[in-house]
Amino acid sequence: MNSREVYMDHGATTPVREEVLEAMLPFFKEQYGNPSSVHSKGREVRNAVEEAREKTASALGASPGEIYFTSGGTESNNIVLRGAAKKHEGFGHIITSAIEHHAVLDVCRDLEKEGHRVTFLPVDKYGRLDPSTVEDAITPETFIISIMAANNEIGTLQPLEEIGAIAAKHNIIFHTDAVQVVGQLPVDLKKMQVDFLSLSAHKFNGPKGVGALYKRKGIKIDPLYRGGGQEGKLRPGTENVPGVIGLARALELSVEEIPHKINTLQSLRDKLIEGLLKIDEVVLNGHPEERLPGNVNVSFKYIEGEAILLSLDMEGIAASSGSACSSGSLDPSHVLSAIGLDHQTAHGSVRFSLGRGNSETDIDYVLEKVPAVVDRLRRISPIRRSG
Ligand SMILES: Cc1ncc(COP(=O)(O)O)c(C=O)c1O
Repeated sequence: MNSREVYMDHGATTPVREEVLEAMLPFFKEQYGNPSSVHSKGREVRNAVEEAREKTASALGASPGEIYFTSGGTESNNIVLRGAAKKHEGFGHIITSAIEHHAVLDVCRDLEKEGHRVTFLPVDKYGRLDPSTVEDAITPETFIISIMAANNEIGTLQPLEEIGAIAAKHNIIFHTDAVQVVGQLPVDLKKMQVDFLSLSAHKFNGPKGVGALYKRKGIKIDPLYRGGGQEGKLRPGTENVPGVIGLARALELSVEEIPHKINTLQSLRDKLIEGLLKIDEVVLNGHPEERLPGNVNVSFKYIEGEAILLSLDMEGIAASSGSACSSGSLDPSHVLSAIGLDHQTAHGSVRFSLGRGNSETDIDYVLEKVPAVVDRLRRISPIRRSG
């Protein structure tokens, strides 16, 4: 076992911070009431849930009535896309990008099979979408535009304000999967002119299995589930009370810390990128500037990302190849293919995602270990020898 542990997989998930756990604990113990119960045990929990809604809304510049708690990013995305399709009369048209998370992409593919038409917009070599392609794709049947705020694999940020303005001009619902952005960068719902935004607590040091959906007041979609009247009937079922409390506390803390965190993470990120690019035949994936403050994604030519991960793991370093959700598949990630990487370069991709708790010493440690790992793997690489 390696004594040193360096966690650089914050894009997959993050540890729950102490203050968040503390805020959650009473709701597993003495405050166990059902928020829908009329007795005082229920009412005190209802008050706490509504307070959490207020905190969440204020962190996003929304009003509390616009926040719906869900089980995470996947569910929020499903509720919006499927709910908007259900509300739409007859078959319509959806605009999204080719590099969305599977929680958007696969829902769109299913809706396509069910009869809707979907445009999967291409991105440039950095993973950026050209807003004019969104406008060009609009047809009279388009009922929703869904574009992620930042890509989970390569960290590229999308020009949301421009896309939001186009959606507003054409009076089309605009949704953004902001799971990788909320808690990392400031979110201004007004500027972005979004109608729906998905977020997930475990990406900003909150608990897993809880998220939220922002729905602009007045916009209507059909619910996917039937049941009780919770969450304005959009997401019925007894609330995950400790989760919701944890989400709000984690969001409140991470939003407060954003200005400081951006600077720290960006400088660690840039130091790591600079160091990794000193290794022979390494390319940076994603946009050089318009990227998440904690995201580093590079391809090491001639070797497999998975092999690098296993070797790094033996040195106590946790990173990922592709997205955590899609690893296990042998196909190169759809994101790396969409930015034009050849098969072999895509397979050599590794994502280091930095977060709270990472330090300069962690970067030094990674930069000390990676070159030796890469060198060893390249020496035994059949692709290198035949190439
Ligand atoms: C961009 C993006 N969307 C959606 C999800 C899914 O979120 P959750 O794990 O909360 O379902 C993730 C998780 O990796 C993500 O990165």
